[in-house]
Order: sequence, then C-alpha cells, then structure tokens
Amino acid sequence: MSKLTEAESARLHPETLALSHGFDPWLSEGAVKPPVFLTSTFAFKCAADGKRFFAWAHGEGTPPPRREQGLIYSRINNPNLEILEDRVAAWEGMKDAYSFSSGMAAIATTLLATHRPGDEMIVCAPVYGGTDSLIHHFLKSFGIAAHFVPAGVHAPARAEPLITARTRSIFIESPANPNNRLTDIGRMKELALHHAPAAPGAVTGRILVIVDNTMAGPVFAQPAKVGADIVLYSATKFIGGHSDVVGGIALANDPVLLAALAQHRALLGGMPNPYTAWLLTRSLETLKIRAEQQQRNAQHVAVFLASHPKVRQVCYLGLLAPADPEYAIYRKQHTGPGSLISFYIRGGEPEAFAFLDHLKVFKLAVSLGSTESLAQHPAAMTHSGLTPDDRCSSGITEDLVRLSIGIENHEDLIWDLRQALDQGEPGRAVPA
Ligand SMILES: Cc1ncc(COP(=O)(O)O)c(C=O)c1O
Repeated sequence: MSKLTEAESARLHPETLALSHGFDPWLSEGAVKPPVFLTSTFAFKCAADGKRFFAWAHGEGTPPPRREQGLIYSRINNPNLEILEDRVAAWEGMKDAYSFSSGMAAIATTLLATHRPGDEMIVCAPVYGGTDSLIHHFLKSFGIAAHFVPAGVHAPARAEPLITARTRSIFIESPANPNNRLTDIGRMKELALHHAPAAPGAVTGRILVIVDNTMAGPVFAQPAKVGADIVLYSATKFIGGHSDVVGGIALANDPVLLAALAQHRALLGGMPNPYTAWLLTRSLETLKIRAEQQQRNAQHVAVFLASHPKVRQVCYLGLLAPADPEYAIYRKQHTGPGSLISFYIRGGEPEAFAFLDHLKVFKLAVSLGSTESLAQHPAAMTHSGLTPDDRCSSGITEDLVRLSIGIENHEDLIWDLRQALDQGEPGRAVPA
C-alpha cells in the first residue's frame, strides 16, 4: 500500500505522480518499477468472484471504484493499462482514462461510443489526415454526417448556425495539425450547453466537446479545464516520446462517458498490449523534462526561421503577438507554446522538397513529439488524403513544411535548417 493518503496524493504534481502513482510494489514482490503483466487472463479465487467481476464490468449492481473491480481478461483490464491510465489521468487532472493501441483506435472508439446513425458532428478543420478520413468516409458510411468549419477565432460563429437537433459533438484539434490554428474550446462548450440536443438516442443529453490535444501534449494544455468533455491523444507522440511505440488515450470526467468508453473498447478490442502500456508508462516519467526542452529548442528555431529570407511565414504559438486574434485563446488554453512549428517556404513543392531532402540532422519522417527532430510535407504526406479544396481552405499548401522539434542542441538544429534552406534550390542533387 502507498504510504500517501488520498489527500496527500491529490496535492502532488503530475511529474511526481508519474513515478509511482497507481502501483503498489508490495503486490509485486517489492519491485520498484511495475513488472510487465504479460497475461491474457486472470485467475479468480472462486466462481463467485468471477460472477461478481463480470457483473461489475457490465455495469450491473453498485460496482466499487474501477481499480477494485477485479481483473478478468486483458481486453477488459490489465494492471499495466490501469497504471498508465491512472498516471495520464493525473497529468490531465481528469477522473479517468482508457488506453488504446493507437491514437486512431482512441478516436474511432470514442466516436463510435458517442454517436449513432443519423447523428451529426461539427468538426474544426484541419484535423490530422487519418481523423479527417475517418470522419469524411468511414463515419459517413455509418450515417454520421459532419459539418466542417475552419479552426480559429471565427470557428464558434461559423459553427453555431450549423447546430441542429441531431448535433452530438463538436470535434476540435487545438492547436490544429498541421497549421497550429487555435480554437476557443470554452466558447464551443458554451454553444454546446446552449444547444442541448432535443432528439433522443445520445449517450448523454448534451452536445459533447471532444478535443484531440495531441499537438500540445498534456504538459502545456489541459482542455478539460476549459470545457472539453472528452480529451484524446495519440500517445505515439509526446506521451511515448521516443518514436518507438504506437498508442492512444481517451479521458473523460463523466461516469456515463467513461462507461461508454470502457464498453466500446472491450467490444471493439482496441486496447494496447501490456508491453505497449508499460513503455508508455515509462515514458511518462520523462514527459515534462522532454517537453520543456523541446519547447526551449522550438522557440530558438522559430525565431531563426522567422528571420530567414527563404521563409514566408512561420506558424508557432511562441511567436503569437498580443495583437494576434488567437493570442487570447493561447493565453487561456496554454501554459507554453510547445514544439510544433509549421512554416511556408518561398516557392512551392520543388523548393519544399529540396529543403527536406537537404536536411541532415532532422529526419524526414511523419509523426511528432519525439526526442529527435522530424520534418515532413503535410500536403504530400500526412494530409495527402484530403481533397485539394479542403487542403487549400486549411492552408495546407505545397509550400508548407511541418517541423517537430526534439531535444537536440538547438544550435545544431538551426545549423541544419540554415544549410538546408541555403542549399535547397530545386533541381540540385541530394547529398549522398
Ligand atoms: C493530432 C493527431 N491525432 C491523432 C493521430 C493518430 O495517432 P496514431 O498514429 O497514434 O494512430 C495523429 C497522428 O499523427 C495526430 O497527429
């Protein structure tokens, strides 16, 4: 048993809780670190226990707190998943979390758990290309329609006239991938509360504000504090942080939503395996120091890019000026600008590709939030599945490059960017 009382635990910071919360060494031979519970199934002490555990998993009777409900089968519960979920919930200051095998599994399971055929969504565009495809094609084929509005300060005004009695959710990525546009989550929540859906069939009787917080990561923004009902992560990014694991997280406070997430994860089978959960738990221990170093580096890199003659515009939260319309949203929703930078290079695809092909320290790869710096071309890569019109209206043009800044020495990163920008003339040979 932990020597900390519940009240003492509650006053500790997430970076402290990330080292011990949710794990009792005395249940595992005194091991300081959680072992990997590589088991698909768990033995019941007696048949009556098995009956009770199943009844609680089905939501019958009056179940005890989730961690005391008894282990059944690793698609339903497993200690490694629970330790990870407790620690992510502590980061986010939310009641509970469910872990998934990928960010897409978390998003898809959440949307299937909260929408029914005939329901409508409002989506602030752009969103990650996979999410866009899921909503535009897969959910549409199940009779769930989406209205897209551009992310940014005008998103609530554009969204309000689109709300109908069938609207079930407002889906936001803030900052949006890949252009770092910010949307006012609190304002969207006000709209959601003002227009509670009249039609029956919703999981809850209100419009849900669902926020994918992958781009900011849990260190610099906690969307539930400003009104999100469900917070989603690709844990592959900042939470995993080393480009060596794929995972996802969904968090909520409302017990009805949490029960819907639990049931749909068990039905659809999108949980992570215990080793994935263990890796993500280990990564959480260094989340804050990684994110802070990445952010320090990103600020240096953004300032450099903004001063380079071959760069037309830099989109980075750390460069927002108080006069910028999104600055007030930034101050309300973020404690730091994070480490994702997008910028428009002068020219088009040939100039952008030449720049990318000349990078030597940055890896030319999709994904973000890892210890190493990555560069990619959203129009040709992560967002290539969008229609040309949708790309254009979200500013995902052929001159846009996205950088994810890692923990390297910032002078080395700037050296690399400078040499790639200066040599990156179209038609020049790529170095061997
Ligand atoms: C903002 C955002 N959400 C969700 C995802 C999907 O996550 P995963 O690749 O872990 O399925 C990504 C992936 O890049 C992303 O950038």
